[in-house]
Amino acid sequence: MNQGFETLAIHAGQEADPHTGAVVPPIYAVSTYKQDGVGGLRAGYEYSRSANPTRTALEEALAAVEGGVRGLAFASGLAAEDTLLRTVCKPGDHVVIPDDAYGGTYRLFSRVFREWGVSFDPVPLGDLDAVRAAVRPETKAIWVETPTNPLLNVADVAALADVAHDGGAVLVVDNTFASPYLQQPLSLGADVAVHSTTKYVGGHSDVVGGALVTRSVDLGERLAYHQNAMGAVAGPFDAWLTLRGLKTLGVRMDRHCDNAERVVDLLLSHPKVVQVLYPGLPEHPGHEIAAKQMRRFGGMVSFRVEGGEEAAVEICNRAKLFTLGESLGGVESLIEHPGRMTHASAAGSPLEVPADLVRLSVGIETVDDLLADLSEALG
Ligand SMILES: Cc1ncc(COP(=O)(O)O)c(C=O)c1O
Repeated sequence: MNQGFETLAIHAGQEADPHTGAVVPPIYAVSTYKQDGVGGLRAGYEYSRSANPTRTALEEALAAVEGGVRGLAFASGLAAEDTLLRTVCKPGDHVVIPDDAYGGTYRLFSRVFREWGVSFDPVPLGDLDAVRAAVRPETKAIWVETPTNPLLNVADVAALADVAHDGGAVLVVDNTFASPYLQQPLSLGADVAVHSTTKYVGGHSDVVGGALVTRSVDLGERLAYHQNAMGAVAGPFDAWLTLRGLKTLGVRMDRHCDNAERVVDLLLSHPKVVQVLYPGLPEHPGHEIAAKQMRRFGGMVSFRVEGGEEAAVEICNRAKLFTLGESLGGVESLIEHPGRMTHASAAGSPLEVPADLVRLSVGIETVDDLLADLSEALG
């Protein structure tokens, strides 16, 4: 019988410890392993860059909750992205990226990979003809974020998988914003799901990490080879914290969504708010696609305000329970000004974000307290 999401999150890769019966995988703080004679590895463990039991537990759990065959855990989301790109691309290759990709992903392409001879084109992923037109013989990947950070645009994963595969490219989906509880890109045809596990998967703002999960064994093997060869692995304590977060992802995400829906209602009725960006709204241009490929619409909400940049910055500064800070996906609510904070590196580029934009990561506090704080901040 296929097990449900929460069962997999709590049990996949997490058998009781064979030595003690501990119900939680221990933190194997170890670099090397005793061999029983030369080449006599116990359970395959040799050196902790190559594999570590705590990391293995996390990797197996991540593969299970994403519906993939291979999971790999990294030191950060960007380390996962770097490993993936240097596995599927070589100098001379090309990647199609969203025209509103996460700023750090854009920086990786524009400031790092460009210098190494990998070119890219930012394209609005909602326009399938534009995506098809951007694919060239040397295109090795189409990079998707859905919903996007911070504009919450939605892309049709199944349709983009067809475009990628017709062009001989892999479809990569950064699933950080939705989390595997709300969206499973591999089941929609994507080849790799990417995560900043720093966000919803970890869920408690106490660890930085990244992950790749593949649909095919072959790509999983190639990525695992590069993970070891390049070395940006998750350490055992980080893997343990991330695994602890993953166990409660389902219940947390439902509460994030409940609270975000109430926040959206408040914003919609507020005179100073000129636009609310949330894929759960019927008027959102990606609503139908989001409804088709997501379980619910997530905990991220962005909005634009009357009074431009100054007004947006002031709201961020006035909020109290919504903590002013970067990152997202933790149990505590955060507020930020993308133009000056998370997306400052995209200033002056085609990915620059509107100056009057405020982004919320709606946490799981008592919702009435969140609404009161936001009303106060909006003035
Ligand atoms: C959508 C998305 N992808 C990737 C990353 C990068 O992950 P990390 O900060 O863990 O390196 C982030 C970080 O904010 C993100 O929001």
